[in-house]
Amino acid sequence: MKYINFLVVLVIIGIGFIGYRFMTKKNKASSIVSDLNTEVTQQSLVVEGSIPEWLNGSFVRNGPVSVQINDQKIAHWFDGPAMLHGFTFRNGAVSYTNKFLRSKIYEKIFVEGSFNYAGFATKSRFSLWEKIANFFTWNAEPSIQNANVNVGTIANQYVALTETPLPVRFDIKTLDTLGALKFQDDLPKKNIFESAHMHYDMKKQEKINYLIKYGRESKYVFYRYNAEKPYRELIGEVAVDKPAYMHSFALTENYIVLVEFPLTVNPIDLMIMAKPYIKNFSWHPEQGTNFLIIDRKTGKLVNKIKDNDPFFAFHHVNAYEKEGKIVLDIVTYPDADLIVAFGDLNKSYDEENNHINQDAKRTKLMRYTVSPVTEIIDSRVLLDEPIEYPRINEQYNTQPYRYVYAIDPRRLMLSDVQTGVLRPMYKIDTTTGNKVLWQESGVLPGEPVFIPNPHSDKEDEGVVVNIILDVGKQRAFLLILDGQSFKEIARVYAPHAIPLGLHGQFFKLQK
Ligand SMILES: [Fe+2]
Repeated sequence: MKYINFLVVLVIIGIGFIGYRFMTKKNKASSIVSDLNTEVTQQSLVVEGSIPEWLNGSFVRNGPVSVQINDQKIAHWFDGPAMLHGFTFRNGAVSYTNKFLRSKIYEKIFVEGSFNYAGFATKSRFSLWEKIANFFTWNAEPSIQNANVNVGTIANQYVALTETPLPVRFDIKTLDTLGALKFQDDLPKKNIFESAHMHYDMKKQEKINYLIKYGRESKYVFYRYNAEKPYRELIGEVAVDKPAYMHSFALTENYIVLVEFPLTVNPIDLMIMAKPYIKNFSWHPEQGTNFLIIDRKTGKLVNKIKDNDPFFAFHHVNAYEKEGKIVLDIVTYPDADLIVAFGDLNKSYDEENNHINQDAKRTKLMRYTVSPVTEIIDSRVLLDEPIEYPRINEQYNTQPYRYVYAIDPRRLMLSDVQTGVLRPMYKIDTTTGNKVLWQESGVLPGEPVFIPNPHSDKEDEGVVVNIILDVGKQRAFLLILDGQSFKEIARVYAPHAIPLGLHGQFFKLQK
């Protein structure tokens, strides 16, 4: 038996070596859109315009960056090491810090000089071996994940988040990595997916999230975070045979709504890990889309409503209850082509961007009105434009609201930079369908984040901040727009070009 095990390991290493030769891309040119190797700490920046006096705190944005060492490069941008970018506002002045998260992947790349690791769209030659090793070491010391999707706070600690456990703590001032946030509870901690988009219901002071436990008996698990300690309290569970890939979910005053797209996986395929994570999922349009309605108080599945129309989404915008019905806004795609295509290597910059642009073109801001106990009553298009990264005034999360901030997520082709093609940022009025926009030629906006004015109770009184990548001039700046007029009030140039990223949050200044 021992010899068979030894042989299996030899075969795995042998196959892995061959795979590694194919996986490592040689001499790929660095890209302004994705690459950054340098870090700076608390560098003062020149402010053009003026910063509102009430704006004190740190805007921190997370995202993968692609790095190149010698002749090696990350296999896919999504699996690049996490980098935090922090803009700190203090009495009208702005400073900037950026730092890689010191994860196990950071160590692999920068200490070992290896680009061989498993990721969302990247396959590792040691995936099975790592899985076995992880099995034995999990309880001793969980490794620090490459948490490159979002940031937030759990139990008064700042954390970087991704879709694998566990959250990674960081220092809000220096952005230094402090270690994994270890939960002291009985919820599943391995073979799970968890959403990097937790909900904060400010009215009820509750942070809620869900995870998917993969196994012979898979389930969706809903929980609330304890406000003071790293502890998650179970709300409820729903058993599922073939779990769906879902990047986010919706929350109302009384319900959790899980929109289950027909992009599903046989959990056994994930256990075997023969392919990168997302490549194990497949699109089944004949299954339609399910709306799972879970009671926040009892944790019970109130209803599972099937919509025969199959669609996919990354981001829910908001949801709330009105006259006993659930109103749910979401940015939809007609299929999951965009995500299924992740990990297709050897595409040129323009080929890859063309693919992203074609898929992004098909997005719609949709509004579904659902009876929690019966059926979908209505679905309509609020905006038929290519949009993504939708954000709202978070004080209105779970409540009736009016404004969405979003961007046109299509990339600029190299030829577009010269010809002045525009990629706007929008403020959308959901009550009228009207939109106002900010745009400038040759630039790519990131996710717009609304920061409310603490002295106002108007939904759009505040600022919208966004890290803008000027592709033509190869530099980046933080743009600050007035929330009401959507006009620029300030911009602050960063010391280097900041690659496109994922999600950011604003944290009020700590004393
Ligand atoms: Fe996201």
